[in-house]
Amino acid sequence: MSHLIQGWKTAKQRGKKSNRIPPFAPSQKEQEFYKKYCERVAKSSSLPKRALILGATPELRDIAIGAGLESVAVDISEEMMKKFSVFMEKQEDVLDKKIIKNWLEMDLPPGHFGLIMGDASLNNLATIEDNEKMVEICGNILARGGYFVMRQIFYTEDYDGYTDPRAVVGDYRANKISWEDFFMELRINSFKDKVYSSKNFQYDAGKVFDLIEEICKDGLITKPEYERINTFRNNLINSFYPKYEFVKMAEYRKFKLLEEYHDKQFLFSNYLFMMCLVKL
Ligand SMILES: C[S@@+](CC[C@H](N)C(=O)[O-])C[C@H]1O[C@@H](n2cnc3c(N)ncnc32)[C@H](O)[C@@H]1O
Repeated sequence: MSHLIQGWKTAKQRGKKSNRIPPFAPSQKEQEFYKKYCERVAKSSSLPKRALILGATPELRDIAIGAGLESVAVDISEEMMKKFSVFMEKQEDVLDKKIIKNWLEMDLPPGHFGLIMGDASLNNLATIEDNEKMVEICGNILARGGYFVMRQIFYTEDYDGYTDPRAVVGDYRANKISWEDFFMELRINSFKDKVYSSKNFQYDAGKVFDLIEEICKDGLITKPEYERINTFRNNLINSFYPKYEFVKMAEYRKFKLLEEYHDKQFLFSNYLFMMCLVKL
């Protein structure tokens, strides 16, 4: 299965200002990490003063423009682009450029960007082939010495999370974990054995939401808890790489891992975290 173009079914929820919080949007500290690399590009004498944003993420576009870079946001969904643009502080800025296109079909010149930023972007690609193609495209349009900064889901060897839904529900009810961590553990870890393939790194998000619906019918979670989770329902096939496999794949394609960043305020920062790769 290659180049599967996937619908983005959560536009309604994602298009709400109240949801511009982690895990859906980068935290303040994560925004600082993106900003650090934007400022490096702005100060560099050799890198193009241009940032590619994979998606319409308003915070990233504001950060790039704030650093004095041209922001080129590419999103397949016109609806997401429109909804997210409204949340920008710098939405009328001349440096804010928008392109409606599939990332895998972008037609941009080689070495055009000093920086690429993606907030859980590559997780939206369904196959290993598409991830590899995407990293190759990024390597081509990024100038040598440029940065690819991302926040996304990576499985690591250090953290398995809550593999039993009963345990995560219990700890949430006992106020040991926040709603955000409860949501993320159910969404990413509790049903991993049923919906994830360690061979092709595909994670069937549609199936997870079906399983969450089942634990509601069985009475493990309440109707209001289910409804809050279900507002983020989607039917994507995500790809969640083990971290070392992703780094290996990118390093094979002329990138080098420069830095990793975990905002330790959330449990989910164990598997939704940041990475900066440099183009060699
Ligand atoms: C960047 S991701 C994750 C959302 C992000 N964390 C946020 O809320 O800022 C979601 C965006 O990627 C877009 N998208 C998904 N697959 C795409 C593709 N192949 N090409 C272009 N845009 C895509 C979707 O339309 C959606 O707007």
